[in-house]
Amino acid sequence: GTDPHVRTGARGVHGTLRAAIPERHLRTDRWWLPPAATAAGLLAFVVYSTWRAFSNADYYDAPYVSPFYSPCLAENCEPMRDGPNWALFGTWWGLSPAILILILPLGFRLTCYYYRKAYYRGFWASPPACAVPEPRQKYTGETRFPLIMQNIHRYFFYAAMLVASILTYDTVLAFRDEHYEWGHMGLGTVVFAANAVLLWMYTLSCHSCRHIVGGRLKHFSKHPVRYRLWGWVGKLNARHARLAWYSLISVALADLYVYLLAIGAFDDPTIF
Ligand code: FES
Repeated sequence: GTDPHVRTGARGVHGTLRAAIPERHLRTDRWWLPPAATAAGLLAFVVYSTWRAFSNADYYDAPYVSPFYSPCLAENCEPMRDGPNWALFGTWWGLSPAILILILPLGFRLTCYYYRKAYYRGFWASPPACAVPEPRQKYTGETRFPLIMQNIHRYFFYAAMLVASILTYDTVLAFRDEHYEWGHMGLGTVVFAANAVLLWMYTLSCHSCRHIVGGRLKHFSKHPVRYRLWGWVGKLNARHARLAWYSLISVALADLYVYLLAIGAFDDPTIF
């Protein structure tokens, strides 16, 4: 039902129901710095990834395919000619094939518990920080449409496992040279491996993963294996926000690395 105080404007920071304190809030530290830095970082990633996803070019340099474009499902993908990709979408697909793929990791991150906090604070200021009230009079949290849709996060988790598996497969394929001979390792192989590890750590540190592994049990004592797994996932889970950032940066750097190789900025240094 509608709270009559909402209609009359009694609630909120400027409402008549609030204690008569002139200050909007009592925080004296630089509380605005974390949400501002978060917003700037996310914005930088959005700008970079949008440019790269729509550019539809320079995403392949044998044997590396950019993580933004893997697996490449459209026939207009350059790697189709000799790489490990599948032309599920024929020639009719004229847009950048990255758009087909990025929906999965994008949905995973957009509905992630950490990113929700990050953009609710950074972009919506709802609320901007602890003990700093938001300007809106009405607050329903995630109990109503559209934010109740955030619950689909648990399903995106499975999609994210698939994406991490594919990028792991790409890392294995990166142990080939530019003529697809096995037994080669370049700097790009290291970049791909680091990115795959960070993506796995981020994915496995997901709160939904923690629930799948250790949730809905009455007695941990009767489920020793799940208890142990839950302990490991819990350790990762405590670092979830950090892993969200590390993996976001690593996936952008892996893409940037392939881009620089593809435009001929330098040659991939060989390690062995
Ligand atoms: Fe962040 Fe699931 S809670 S990925």
